[in-house]
This record gives sequence, C-alpha cells and structure tokens, in this order.
Amino acid sequence: MENCKLLITGLKQVVQVCKNGERMLVGDAMNDVAMMQSDDGNCGYSIVVNSDGNIHDIDTDKNISLKYNGTHFEKSIDGRGCCVIPGLVDAHTHPVWAGDRVHEFAMKLAGASYMEVHQAGGGIHYTVEHTRAASENELYQLLKQRLTSMVKRGTTLVECKSGYGLDTESELKMLRVINQAKKKNIIDISTTYCGAHAVPKGSTSEEMVNDIITNQLPKLKQEIYSGKLEVDNIDVFCEKGVFNPHQTRKILEEGVKMGLMINFHGDELSDTGSAKLGAELKAQAISHLEEISDEGIEEMSKSHSVAVILPTTAYILRLKAPPVRKMIKAGVPVALGSDFNPNAYCMSMPVVMHLACVNFHMTMPEALTASTINAAAALGVSDTHGSLEVGKKANLVIIDAPRWEHLVYQFGCHDDVIKAVVLGGDIIHMKHST
Ligand code: NIG
Ligand code: FE
Repeated sequence: MENCKLLITGLKQVVQVCKNGERMLVGDAMNDVAMMQSDDGNCGYSIVVNSDGNIHDIDTDKNISLKYNGTHFEKSIDGRGCCVIPGLVDAHTHPVWAGDRVHEFAMKLAGASYMEVHQAGGGIHYTVEHTRAASENELYQLLKQRLTSMVKRGTTLVECKSGYGLDTESELKMLRVINQAKKKNIIDISTTYCGAHAVPKGSTSEEMVNDIITNQLPKLKQEIYSGKLEVDNIDVFCEKGVFNPHQTRKILEEGVKMGLMINFHGDELSDTGSAKLGAELKAQAISHLEEISDEGIEEMSKSHSVAVILPTTAYILRLKAPPVRKMIKAGVPVALGSDFNPNAYCMSMPVVMHLACVNFHMTMPEALTASTINAAAALGVSDTHGSLEVGKKANLVIIDAPRWEHLVYQFGCHDDVIKAVVLGGDIIHMKHST
C-alpha cells in the first residue's frame, strides 16, 4: 500500500460495535458491542483508511507501524488517550424547512397537545406555508447550517425527509435541496419522500392520496428514472386524523413499485396497527411506536423491520414512552433518531442517546448500537455503514476521553469531548484546542 488517506494512532478504545459483518443487532447482542481496548500507555490501536475512504486495517500501533512502513499517509491524527466509535447515524429527521415554531412550544408548555395545535392550522401547516414561500437557495442554506451542526455532534449519516411541501412542486423542491447537500458531501444522506406528511388545508385525506398516487409519485418516478433526483425511502404519517392504515398501505405499495424502501411514521399518538401493517409490507423501518401493541411487537420481530425510536419527541410532547425494553426482549431491531423538526428542535444524537438511556431504560451500549449499525440498517445501508470493520466506509468519531461512554454521560456538553469527526477518511470536523 503506497498511498493512504488517513492514519489514526494511539487509540485507547476502538468501539467497532460489531465485527463479523452483522447487518443489525437484536436482543442481548445490542448490549454486547465489539470493542478493542488497550491498557498499555505506550501502545494503543491504530486505524488505516485507504485512498477510497474505506477502513483498511485496525491493529495495534506496533503492528501498524511495521506493516505500513513506507506508506504515505495524506493525513494523520494523534489519538493518544482517545476512543473511537463509528460515525453516528440519525435515522429520522425533517431538516428542510423555513420559519420556526418557538411560539408553539410556548403553547404546548401551557397545555395544548400536538394534535390540537395541528388541527387549529398550526404545526406542520405553519411550516408548510413558510417552506412553500422559501426559495430553493434559502432552504439549502438552512439545511447546510443544520447538517453542519449535526456533524459537530458526531452524526455522519442522516435520513432527510421532504414533507413540508405537500404539493408536487414544493415536494420536489425539498428533494432537490436534499440532493444538493448530498452532492456537496457535507454528510452522508438517505433521502425520503414524505409527501403524505399531512393533509393540506382545504383538502381531504382521500383527495391527498389521489394527488400523491396520480400526480406526485409519477412525477417523482420520472425525476428518479431520468437521474435528476436520488430518493431512497417513502414515508407516510399514519395517524388518526391524518392518513389511515388503508391509505398508508396504498401509498407505500406504490412507492415500493418504484423501488423505494418503506420507512414510515406509525403508532405515535394512537395504536393504528401501523407496526403490523409495516411488518406485513416488509417495511425497512417504522418510526415512533409509542403506542405499539404487543401484537405489533411480535410482527416486527418476525419481519425484522427496524423500530426507529425518537426520544426527543416523546420528551417534548410528554408522550408515554415506547416499550423499548419489550421490543429488545422480543428481538425487534431498535434504532434511534433525533426527529429534528420544528416541533422537536434537536440536532444532537448524544442527547438522543442520553434520553433513550434515562427515559426508555436502554443501556449505553444499546443506545450506541441503536445509533450506529441498527440505524444504518433502518436506512438499508448497514453493509457499508454503522460499524468499524475493514472494508466499510471510514465514518468515525474520535472522543477525547478514556471511555467512549463520556459522549452519552456528559449530557449537553458532549461537544467538548468530540475531538474529530471523519467522513470517508476526510476530517470534516476538528475541535479547536482551547
Ligand atoms: O415525526 N409526526 C409527524 N412528523 C414529525 C413532526 C413534524 C412537525 O411537527 O413538523 C414527527 O414528530
Ligand atoms: Fe418525523
């Protein structure tokens, strides 16, 4: 090997998460993360990233210096005393929008429920109005700032949804903005078409389903097939008063015909049977699930659809906790997401992991599994993302602390312990020394 992109040396812990090519971890395996640890102050672990940006080798400093004597490394990081984990994967976000809803936060603190605000014309409707009015460039600038902010908090792959356009042109505008960010390599992105995020004002849900099936999806298909847009997933907000399970099924099945993966909102504010529906449709992922039934849990454990748990939403809306322990025990693959949106304004996966541990009784290793390999599985990319294994993309976070758990433990101060964030072997964030 003559030329390599990056060498990281001196690492105290290399938290691989998994090391045998697993595509997701379930049950007890979620808690049993694969890790290399050095207690020798003079010899830690090194990671070699090849010129393609993939992990080429992980070994002790001594072995690496012997094996790569004569190799030119474009960059190196002195990781003495530090830990490394896979780049965090945020499996659910709504990051393209204009305006904010700080005024609604006050209303909700005063007692209004999410659905009361939504049905009074606020919530998603408020954001739709502002997003429709914003130019593509304005939306791109806002998205860029937000993605950069996520990177600083350790996220290297994020799922990004449309869904504040609700008509063909505005939805396409949002998807173009997401595609633009993807091309700029700010962060890795999985793109989701979420045209069925709400029923637009002045329309019925049936009219909206018709519009999606007869106008939005055919146009989207054209854009995808002509290579103008890349879209990975299809989403619907399946909820009482929004889209019912029958309508949800119709839209999702149409998406599958176009080659999209099913990744939808379900069983959040009421048990609509979304988990069961998703399992039947072999959904890649179902999000929220605060109200999932026991039957839904059983079906998801059979279909291996990933449960994307969103602790910030339950926290902000004071919803009941999803039965995460039951899900893990039943063998449902659990992932985490920030659900960043104007209702739940959080761009930090370490905060999400902390909340998942304290409020949903996950262990720190389970929260890490849920924010790496299982979140990558929710997006259908765990063959290339979500763990530190030879051949995988070198997305990683270097933590300046003797144990990786400091990232979760230091609630809200996690920025201080993130030394560097690497995307495909490129250093995309480096903490300034103070
Ligand atoms: O996942 N539940 C639907 N969608 C978002 C909220 C979007 C919004 O309120 O703007 C969610 O929480
Ligand atoms: Fe959401």
